[in-house]
Amino acid sequence: MTEQCRNQIRILITAGPTHEPIDAVRYLANRSSGRLGIDLAEEAARRGHHVTLLLGPTPLHPNNTQIKLIRFQTTAELEAGLAAHLRMVDVLVMAAAVADYRPKLKMGDVDAKLRRTAGGMTLDLEATPDLLAGCVRQRTAMGREDNLYMVGFALEPRAEMMISARKKLERKGVDMIVANPLETMDAPTIDATLVVAEGTAGGTGGEITKAEFAGWLLDAIDQVQAPEPSIASNTD
Ligand code: CTP
Repeated sequence: MTEQCRNQIRILITAGPTHEPIDAVRYLANRSSGRLGIDLAEEAARRGHHVTLLLGPTPLHPNNTQIKLIRFQTTAELEAGLAAHLRMVDVLVMAAAVADYRPKLKMGDVDAKLRRTAGGMTLDLEATPDLLAGCVRQRTAMGREDNLYMVGFALEPRAEMMISARKKLERKGVDMIVANPLETMDAPTIDATLVVAEGTAGGTGGEITKAEFAGWLLDAIDQVQAPEPSIASNTD
């Protein structure tokens, strides 16, 4: 078996924003470009890993045709994609900027257009489920705590970044949180610190490009998690 085959893993990456419909032509969204998750997917594929990318509504897309690309629009579609693919992977990297709230829709709302009236209007929002916490529950139900590594992100104001990232690690039950400041969204660079149960597992030491970050994070995941080869090879 070649060195590359031995280290080959199956990795599921989520990236990009969600669009939560308000009516037939409008939605709630955020400024995520999906760049970071796409760069991660490209770098993981370049290393010979089996990559599935769940990508939200963004004009960007990966170029590597080895990447299994599945598009989503809403949090609900991303939730369905995660449920379908989680059981088939060794690592989940949840880089998607998932909406925390979505319009509470009634039957037919997404087929019609809201009309302007003289008065104001109020949108009725409901909380979305915490998809990452749901993935951790699914992992427990599958009895895969030891061989399914889960990485989340925490986009935070710098002043409270580390404290909030640690709280997220504990609240969601993931193995690693990539703490990064609010300025990362829609930017070409990232200044990240890794938070794990034992403490911190290093940082980028300042701004690096998202393409550089992709290799850096994959190396870091490799170091803390060395799964048994998951893909049978008959090339020995
Ligand atoms: N996330 C998720 N489901 C949500 C919201 C966020 O799975 N409904 C994931 C994100 O993909 C990210 C991590 O949880 O990996 C943290 O996202 P973030 O927006 O920073 O945190 P929230 O859980 O939304 O908490 P808060 O609003 O307090 O920042």
